[in-house]
Amino acid sequence: MKLDSKEMLTGELRITHRLVDASNATLLGEIEGYGKVIYKPVAGERPLWDFPDGTLAGREVASFLLSEKLGLHLVPETILREGPFGPGMVQRWIEIDADLDLIEFGQSEDSQLRSLALFDAIINNTDRKFGHLLVDSSGRLFGCDHGVTFHREEKLRTVLWQFAGLALTESEQALLDSALANSNEIAKFLSEHVTEVEIEALCSRISKLSDLNAMPMPSEEWPAVPWPPV
Ligand SMILES: Nc1ncnc2c1ncn2[C@@H]1O[C@H](COP(=O)(O)OP(=O)(O)O)[C@@H](O)[C@H]1O
Ligand SMILES: [Mg+2]
Repeated sequence: MKLDSKEMLTGELRITHRLVDASNATLLGEIEGYGKVIYKPVAGERPLWDFPDGTLAGREVASFLLSEKLGLHLVPETILREGPFGPGMVQRWIEIDADLDLIEFGQSEDSQLRSLALFDAIINNTDRKFGHLLVDSSGRLFGCDHGVTFHREEKLRTVLWQFAGLALTESEQALLDSALANSNEIAKFLSEHVTEVEIEALCSRISKLSDLNAMPMPSEEWPAVPWPPV
């Protein structure tokens, strides 16, 4: 399969299935010349009392763009485009390794999980469940479902607490430094999808992590694990 963003943007999007266990209108589709995708139309989003601004779709795109900019490549290619139910987020479908025990893997010390845990702290992910870990047949990890991210108040909620409190490595520190050094550019491309206040909060989370020089600890002020965790 050829991965080509132009095809992804312009190829015809055909719906093939609806994911019935998904919480929002989450559809599985196929783009001609590109391949399988997830499509979440903005019109299918349920309003969330604690995420008043922007769209969940926009936050998913913002998460992809930031993961790319930070050189993490942890989010499958994600764009906003038109589809049969109007504009929405379209994300490359990852064919997962069905034999992998996700709960066992998700509790391991795998270095890709550690990167994802750091990324979640950066984007303030409130919904990192085991089911949002996608591991392909080559063992490569991706994360999905980044609609509830970038909130201005700290709300990190994840199952990946096995790294809590560990000192950051040099490369993790370098990643944070580079994010701070490029904050103007990052603010520019994120501003299409999240609010100015949320971008300021993002920069302050990155500074705080850098000063702390450690992976975050679970909060005692809010539930630090999503429910259900799978
Ligand atoms: N890009 C993707 N590739 C493969 N599977 C995916 C992808 N995105 C989502 N999924 C699967 O579909 C499920 C539902 O998608 P998700 O993004 O979690 O939707 P919802 O917002 O409705 O919870 C996920 O738990 C995951 O198993
Ligand atoms: Mg989900």
